[in-house]
Order: sequence, then structure tokens, then C-alpha cells
Amino acid sequence: MNTGGAIALVAGANRGLGRAFARGLLAHGARTVYAAAHDTKAVTGAGLTPLVLDITDPASVAAAAERCPDTTLVVNNAGIQRDGSLLTADSLDGARDELETNLFGKLAMCRAFAPVLGKNDGGALINALSVLSWHTLPQIGSSKATAWSMTNAVREDRRAQDTLTIAVHAAFIDTDIAAHVDQTKISPADVVDQVLDAVEAVREEAPAEDVTRQARAMLSRGANHDH
Ligand SMILES: NC(=O)c1ccc[n+]([C@@H]2O[C@H](COP(=O)([O-])OP(=O)(O)OC[C@H]3O[C@@H](n4cnc5c(N)ncnc54)[C@H](OP(=O)(O)O)[C@@H]3O)[C@@H](O)[C@H]2O)c1
Repeated sequence: MNTGGAIALVAGANRGLGRAFARGLLAHGARTVYAAAHDTKAVTGAGLTPLVLDITDPASVAAAAERCPDTTLVVNNAGIQRDGSLLTADSLDGARDELETNLFGKLAMCRAFAPVLGKNDGGALINALSVLSWHTLPQIGSSKATAWSMTNAVREDRRAQDTLTIAVHAAFIDTDIAAHVDQTKISPADVVDQVLDAVEAVREEAPAEDVTRQARAMLSRGANHDH
């Protein structure tokens, strides 16, 4: 699929990876970029079309799909991470919040936009996931692994309508969500370039760095390979 001429919608386009996607898509020749955010005042960048969107609010998601019926490429990017250990946090609130946004919010976007993409020759659906789809850390919740499974199901469901569903997996990207992390981080622009290459080359997975590609390769060895 050509990104040049795309009518794109980016969720969470006001900062971080979403902002890089919005700008990168314009630079790659997208005709329209709906730059979706909770607060459109925070959307900056010439040429973007601001759009109010909260992916956890069904009415907001439905309104976005109704407002953007010409969309050919969706970047399902919005996501959160809550602090606290799965076993020792005071409550389940953080784990529930992560699932509400990273699984159900992203799924709501897939449900709303799959028919839109189908009407527009299939298009592309890009779900921003994580190395945590494939790598387990003791404290961190399961939302990305669950979202990977959901993404695989959506891909199979919409294969017949020619929607290219791409799962993006990254370790640390240099954005606010990873600001507390003192490790090597990939730039958002680098991730965007790799994903837009995957769109053009019709690849269904875009692991962003070597560490993520290794985590993918380790899957076949099983979860307890070190023991
Ligand atoms: N950075 C990393 O190291 C890393 C690694 C792997 C995967 N990822 C994934 O990459 C994606 C982008 O994250 P990022 O690094 O750009 O993080 P970020 O800088 O924290 O940005 C998150 C974006 O998501 C938006 N958002 C959160 N909940 C939303 C909702 N309910 N409705 C609409 N927008 C919402 C935020 O909007 P507000 O500004 O209004 O809060 C913000 O624009 C996420 O899915 C994240 O999990 C990031």
C-alpha cells in the first residue's frame, strides 16, 4: 500500500510516537492526517486536521469514525502505562486502567474503523504494541500481550477485505512514557520510518529494534527456557 495519498488518522497525535506518526505521514505524502487527541489544542504541526478522540469513550470513537469516513490508514497508537506491581499495588485499578485503554480502547478503534477501511479498499490498520507482547517482566501487566492476541484476531477477521493489519512492537521509545527509563531508546521518527516501510512492503509485524526482534525469535523456545 502507498502511504503517499493516504487519508490517515492517528490516535494520540498530540505528543510522543503519535505526534511523530502524524508529522511523518504528512512528510510521506499523506493527503490528510486526522490528528486525534483528548485535547485538540495540544495538537501542533502545520497541515494536520485536529480531531477530538478518547479511545475509552464509545461515543467519542463512534463520532470519529462517522466524521472520517474517507480514512484509509489508522494508527491505533494511544496507550498508557500505570505504575505499580501486579501483586503488591494497593488495588487492581492500575491493571484495569491499562486494559481499558491498551486492550479495549484499541479494540474499540478496530471495531469502528474496520468497516471504514473495508469501504476504502482495505487500507491499513496499525496497532502500537510493545516488546511486552513477547517478553515478561514480573511487575508489569498483561495489556500488551493481550492486545497482540487481539490484533492477530482482527487481522484474520479482516483479511478478506484486504486490510493490512500491522502490529508494531518496541522496547523503549524516547517519549514521555519512557522518561523514567535509563536505557537505550529508539527515536519516535525511526519507529515511524520502519512502520511506514512495513506498510509499503505489506509486512504484518514491525519489531523496532534488535532486542524486540530477539524477543520474537525466543517465543519458539518457550517462556521458561532459562530454567
Ligand atoms: N515509549 C515507549 O517506550 C513505548 C514502548 C513500547 C510501546 N509504546 C506504545 O506506543 C504508544 C505511544 O506511546 P508514547 O510512547 O507516545 O507515549 P506517550 O508519550 O505517553 O503518549 C501517549 C499518547 O496516548 C494518548 N492517550 C492515552 N490514552 C488515551 C485515550 N484514552 N484516548 C486518546 N488518547 C489517549 C496520550 O494523550 P494525552 O496527552 O491526552 O494523555 C498521548 O497522546 C502507546 O501505545 C505505548 O504503549 C511505547
